[in-house]
Amino acid sequence: MNAPVEHAIAKQHLIDPEICIRCNTCEEICPVDAITHDNLNYVVKFDVCNGCLACVPPCPTGAIDSWRNVERATPYSLEEQFQWDVLPDTTELDNVEAPFAVERADDELPAEVQEITSIATAGQGGPALAPWSASHPYLNLYPPTRPITATVTGNYRLTADDASSDIHHIVLDFGATPFPVLEGQSIGIIPPGTDEKGKPQLLRMYSVASPRDGERPHYNNLSLTVKRVTEDHEGRPTRGVASNYVCDLQKGDKVQVTGPYGSTYLMPNHPGSSIMMICTGTGSAPMRAMTERRRRRLERNEGGELVLFFGARSPDELPYFGPLQKLPKDFIDINFAFSRVPGEPKRYVQDVIRERADKVLQMLQDENCYIYICGLKGMETGVLEAFRDICRANGADWDQLRPELLANARFHVETY
Ligand code: A2P
Repeated sequence: MNAPVEHAIAKQHLIDPEICIRCNTCEEICPVDAITHDNLNYVVKFDVCNGCLACVPPCPTGAIDSWRNVERATPYSLEEQFQWDVLPDTTELDNVEAPFAVERADDELPAEVQEITSIATAGQGGPALAPWSASHPYLNLYPPTRPITATVTGNYRLTADDASSDIHHIVLDFGATPFPVLEGQSIGIIPPGTDEKGKPQLLRMYSVASPRDGERPHYNNLSLTVKRVTEDHEGRPTRGVASNYVCDLQKGDKVQVTGPYGSTYLMPNHPGSSIMMICTGTGSAPMRAMTERRRRRLERNEGGELVLFFGARSPDELPYFGPLQKLPKDFIDINFAFSRVPGEPKRYVQDVIRERADKVLQMLQDENCYIYICGLKGMETGVLEAFRDICRANGADWDQLRPELLANARFHVETY
């Protein structure tokens, strides 16, 4: 485990009383209630502010964007801030690089998030890093003790009525409360009620399926891709508490949401960066988010390729089959693998990856290509074997390449 990060000097968030017009926007928007006021000044609680910056863009005057470096043990108190007519002068401390007042180290993430994340990323083969051009993610703004309430604004079945799996596209709206997410991040949902031991239900994590600017552009909403769990990994009948709760949600229902989570499974943003996406079933959620992000920026001609390998039982069982097929061929190179189409041989993503060996090798060796795998654990093993075979057949060495991919933040795995 990492030890909590300790620094003697911290960046303290303050509000410039000379400029502030006392409009209350920052206090309304702060997701962690770090801002308060008296009849004179708006002030920031040092021990609560996590430097998420959600308050900075909406401030009409810029008064909110004020910072001083302080000794962590002796920050400016609320009483002092309430007295100010002007900000205190900067000191020599302001010349050093200092972290925000409260660092959200991984240790502070809810235990179940840490556990799920470590299982999901085990196949990566080493510590994950975010691509150098990834945007800065907000983390853990809403912990399980202080979840945000979202409203369900849509729940659509994605699989055919007679399909064996029941996968839903759920849209959650956060109203006026900020809930910033990036493609590849997850959120937590806390099902209502208690478990069989009478304890409140633990949160379940779901990957976000929409891009950062919302399921609907410029709306404060996001979408999820959720499969109703009706059997366990061994195929025995079971009823997934959270997945059934989510799949049965009705428009207008309120949902307790935590997060966002995930600081490394993030897409590159630099022009010319390519993305290879490999997924099965609901593992398509982050791929949909990244693809849609790129689609919405198509007219910018930023370049870079998108290649998708997507496995499902049949076209009727493949989430987003219709919309995916409508995407221009020169925008995304889509490779489906269907395992249960009557009269056709069973095909897994790793089979199709092998068929596309030349393309796959070129992308594995392209330092501007980032690789994302999401879906069934069994698929991960098969895909890694396919990579190894492709490398071997072409005089490359997967055991040498994989650490390089990891070190350059080009290899990202989330499987379950
Ligand atoms: P299968 O027909 O063998 O179950 P699901 O619908 O259960 O979420 O699975 C999505 C797709 O992943 C299905 O086509 C499923 O095939 C396939 N799959 C199952 N196991 C593996 C594996 N070990 N490697 C690759 N794909 C797999």
